[in-house]
Amino acid sequence: MILKSPAKLNLYLKVLRKRKDGYHDIISLFERIDLSDTISLKRRRANRIKIISASGEIPKDKTNLAWRAAGLLQRKFKIKQGVEIKITKRIPVGAGLGGGSGNAATVLMGLNRLWNLNLSKAKLAALAKEIGSDVAFFIHDCPFALAEGRGERIKPLKTLNQIKLWHVLAVPRVNVSTPFIYQQWDKAKKVGLTSPESDVKILTSALRKNALSLVGKALFNSLEEVTTRLYPALNSVKGDLAGLGLKAIRMTGSGPAIFGICSSRKEAVSISRQLAQNRSLRVFLSRTL
Ligand code: C5P
Repeated sequence: MILKSPAKLNLYLKVLRKRKDGYHDIISLFERIDLSDTISLKRRRANRIKIISASGEIPKDKTNLAWRAAGLLQRKFKIKQGVEIKITKRIPVGAGLGGGSGNAATVLMGLNRLWNLNLSKAKLAALAKEIGSDVAFFIHDCPFALAEGRGERIKPLKTLNQIKLWHVLAVPRVNVSTPFIYQQWDKAKKVGLTSPESDVKILTSALRKNALSLVGKALFNSLEEVTTRLYPALNSVKGDLAGLGLKAIRMTGSGPAIFGICSSRKEAVSISRQLAQNRSLRVFLSRTL
């Protein structure tokens, strides 16, 4: 079974507060994009879960979220079979693009079929939460969704189903640790004056109207300042994108990937070609999926 495992962008990510369990409550607007890994699943008679990947950047043991997805299903449903999970990585690792979370969701959905579990979307989303905060989004088959709680409570934004955005992604060659960025946010935390619900509504309505200059003003990420303080090179990446004419530029997740929204495929191709001359960046062109 061969499956695509897409990436996400956070067009909006407001950190509200630290919770007693150590996580943070957030409000986020997720977008699914067509930058994807490929996952192939093969039945194994013995009950071992085996991860294969040519990427040296992902773990091949129980700490891999895809492994944990398979392990969780085996344990909960007393599955005696094993599985070989081959991951062909294209999504940069530790970049804020949700690659590992998406891989876990893809394995949950794939094994649901391969192992004939017949689990509903709601049940799969509930299992997804046990693996990580971003996994549930990938279970929902929607291009845009609002996320609350620690990011696991998902409401698909059906009014945006027809919207397709073109992106340039610029990913500096550093890996960022999400827990570390949240810890730094705790130290530096600032309370926003406006209500986050109304902010995200402004973004949703700008997206619905396809008004890119308004979208650009409404993109938001509480963690961007924190990550940029640790990696000041992010400022020059944003400066480069602005210098090439983009008006809508933001960091995704805990970074360090920076995305720009372009008005057409042509603009996205032209900007990504120019940006790719900077060898310290990995540059991708992508679109809403
Ligand atoms: O949920 P996940 O395992 O992907 O999160 C990784 C880490 O990021 C958590 O252990 C926590 O430190 C931090 N985190 C958080 N609040 C969130 C999501 C993640 O503090 N909403």
